[in-house]
Amino acid sequence: MANSDRCGESWTRTDYCGELRAKDAGRRVVLAGWVQRVRDIGSLVFVDLRDRSGLVQLVARSDRPEFLEQAKKLRGEFVIQVRGLVKNREPEAINRELPTGEIEVEIEGLTVLNPAETTPFIISDPPQASEELRLKYRYLDLRRPSMQRNVSLRHQAALLTRNFLSSRGFLEIETPFLTRSTPEGARDYLVPSRIHPGRFYALPQSPQLFKQILMISGFDRYFQIVRCFRDEDLRADRQPEFTQIDIEMSFIPREVLFEIIEELMVEFFALGGYQVNRPFLKLSYEEALNRYGSDKPDLRDDITIEDLSEIGRASGSELLNGIIQKGGVLKGLLVKGGGSFARSRLDRLQEEARALGAGGLAWIRKAGDSLKSSLKLEQDKLQAIWQALRAEEPDLGLLVAAEKATAIRVLGEFRKNFILEKIKDGRLDKSRLAFCWVTDFPLFEWSQEEQKIVSMHHPFTSPNPEDLEHLESDPFKVRALAYDLVLNGYEVGGGSIRIHQPEIQARIFKILGLTAEQTREKFGFFLEALSYGAPPHGGIALGFDRLVMLLCGEESIREVIPFPKTTSALCLMTGSPSPVDPRQLEELGLEITGKK
Ligand code: AMO
Repeated sequence: MANSDRCGESWTRTDYCGELRAKDAGRRVVLAGWVQRVRDIGSLVFVDLRDRSGLVQLVARSDRPEFLEQAKKLRGEFVIQVRGLVKNREPEAINRELPTGEIEVEIEGLTVLNPAETTPFIISDPPQASEELRLKYRYLDLRRPSMQRNVSLRHQAALLTRNFLSSRGFLEIETPFLTRSTPEGARDYLVPSRIHPGRFYALPQSPQLFKQILMISGFDRYFQIVRCFRDEDLRADRQPEFTQIDIEMSFIPREVLFEIIEELMVEFFALGGYQVNRPFLKLSYEEALNRYGSDKPDLRDDITIEDLSEIGRASGSELLNGIIQKGGVLKGLLVKGGGSFARSRLDRLQEEARALGAGGLAWIRKAGDSLKSSLKLEQDKLQAIWQALRAEEPDLGLLVAAEKATAIRVLGEFRKNFILEKIKDGRLDKSRLAFCWVTDFPLFEWSQEEQKIVSMHHPFTSPNPEDLEHLESDPFKVRALAYDLVLNGYEVGGGSIRIHQPEIQARIFKILGLTAEQTREKFGFFLEALSYGAPPHGGIALGFDRLVMLLCGEESIREVIPFPKTTSALCLMTGSPSPVDPRQLEELGLEITGKK
């Protein structure tokens, strides 16, 4: 703000409330904002005034009765403008908790610009209302200092990203929202066409095809901070419309892209005072699953899942042998200090393991000089397990014997939850950022829901050339040139080197079960584009909301999206989605049957 001492005759704001300091004492200022709180102690009234920069204390005294009376009538969230003199507070009145706590502003003029009804909740941090109420009155919720800070950091992060990528030669290029379906594994949001009844646009799940086409057009380095739309089940880190930092480059090995993204992450998180160390760890998908039980491992703790199948096989236990001989495994997870878990806690873990598909969960711990376990094994066998887990008293080992995918899923979930618990109770540093790249994903997976083979990322991902020979004969064996960027257990980005040869792209569509006719209908334009000189290219999309959430230290992306939807995809403020006028439906040639 401009610093002007001449404010007497003008009502133009001179300063933001939260920026006033002791050095401003003696200045006459004009401030504007919302009344946070009024404390009336008879001959003196204190008013906390809030704007986007913070709070400052205003004071009206009995020697200026006209202002004292006016101040007494103020209520929370009234919008006011004041003229006043900045004064140092008496030493005993200094508030060290408040950045403006050394000063106060003596009121010399006050205008109520707009009164306010009593708000449904008090505007303060932490929030005093349910999330439902906060979302219904989002404009009030957004007045809270933490939301103002989050929205401001989001702006700074977007600006930094734009400047960073522009300085590396990337062009920001817009792509359409009204388009054809781009398969990313979710359902499409459809928009009916009025001019072409019976036809629909799909809102993009990502600009994947357009960015590849921009490479074919020769733009070489593209980016876009872009909204994407996916009709999928929502969670704390998923929204139906969300923002990606979408990137594509031509003529690069993936290492060039990794370097650029890592450098971007260093600068991005410096905005929040974080230090990011690079290069980031690289883990193959196999390693990530085997060691951490997840393809998005939280590496803030180095605890790993151990394979104990050899010990299980030699244990003489019928139960273990039975499972291992059928192709199963015995896996173990160390829980530091877990030896003191009560029976009831172990029972709960047992139930969770069953809910995740395991037949059961075994445990091992030290009791005096010997080892105790729910597995009926000799002491020397238990000793071998204890050592393989690198356990010490008072630790606990959790053991699952099951099909490999199930054992990994159960222990991976436990590992994740134990890390979150450690962070919550302060045993792990909350401010640590642990990035890694997960590479070498399988190209395809089996979809239980659709009962068919599907792409693990999207169908434009290049197979690893070393595995091309298995493409048709053993597709599940083929690795993809795909990578995810993972941060503290969140997938914050995903990308790949793409297919740039039309023949390989056509083979992939065929494996995915598309007939030549369907391929032509859905992707003909794209296959044709690939045939006119497509450069080798690759890219990535970063989940901007997730990154900003982590930058702000929040646990839900709803805290960093100004107007998010609920987990059931509703906007509680506007009431969308809403029914439409029958005339609109008629114009679109649509009829609601009520059938699903
Ligand atoms: P992908 O589907 O992995 O890749 O998406 C990229 C990143 O976007 C974020 N993300 C989401 N964030 C919030 N809500 C959602 N519903 C949501 N879905 C995804 C994640 C994810 O890592 N076109 C490819 C990228 C490429 O290949 O270049 C794509 O969209 O952080």
